[in-house]
Order: sequence, then C-alpha cells, then structure tokens
Amino acid sequence: MKMELTAPKNYVRNRANRPDKWEHNVIESKFRDAAYMKGASFFESVSYKGRDAYRFILPEYYKASCLGCHGEPKGEKDITGGKKEGGKLGELGGAISLVIYE
Ligand code: HEC
Repeated sequence: MKMELTAPKNYVRNRANRPDKWEHNVIESKFRDAAYMKGASFFESVSYKGRDAYRFILPEYYKASCLGCHGEPKGEKDITGGKKEGGKLGELGGAISLVIYE
C-alpha cells in the first residue's frame, strides 16, 4: 500500500507531491466541479504501474489554520520560509491519496 498527500497542480509546493495522471484527473474533473459533493471521496479499481490496484482519494479543503502558510497574500513568505499559495478558506487545497495493490 502507498499513501501520499497531493494537491491541485497550481497549489503544489513540493514537486514530489505533484498529482499523477489519475489524481490530476479526479481533482480537476470531480473535486473542482461545483456539482461534485463536497468532501466526498472517490475510488476506482485501476491498473497502477502495471498491477491491479484499488485507488482511493479524499479531498482536503483549507481551514483557517492552514491559511497562515497556504493563504494570502500569494507569494509572501510563511513561517516555514516557503511561499504562500494564495488559498482561500474552504477552497480545495489538496488530497490524500491511497493505492492498495490487489
Ligand atoms: C506551518 C505552515 C503550514 C501549515 C499551518 C499548513 N501547511 Fe500544508 N504545507 C506546508 C509546507 C511547508 C508544505 C510542503 C511540505 C513538503 O515539502 O513536502 C505543505 C504541503 C502541503 C500539501 C502537499 C502538497 C504540496 O503543496 O506539496 C498539502 C495538500 C497541504 N500542505 C495542505 C494543508 C492543509 C489542508 C492545511 C491545514 C489543515 C495545511 N496544509 C497547513 C506548510 C503548512
């Protein structure tokens, strides 16, 4: 099993957390779709690196406590020395992603 934290492409800080194709697709076509039920996870049985796998992804939204580092103004330094993303309260900020091999 593999677990990771990822984010919409424009909000990724650490390049190692970039979404793969499947994650990117779910984030853009489902989590960012206004008609999608907020907070609902999504799962699918797919092939992952050549093996059958069960993939699960859960959206995460920015809370007030996240905005000190991920909020506005965009580009300003946060306390970790990184640049703030300009995220807004309640906005999709990332996703927790799991891969379980069958
Ligand atoms: C003290 C500052 C701080 C706070 C508060 C904080 N984060 Fe982060 N967050 C970071 C840093 C720094 C990284 C990059 C870590 C790394 O290099 O892997 C990060 C990475 C992430 C990522 C991984 C994607 C990426 O950009 O690399 C997500 C998703 C995320 N944060 C969401 C949140 C959410 C949601 C909250 C609130 C519940 C939150 N963060 C609170 C500093 C913070």
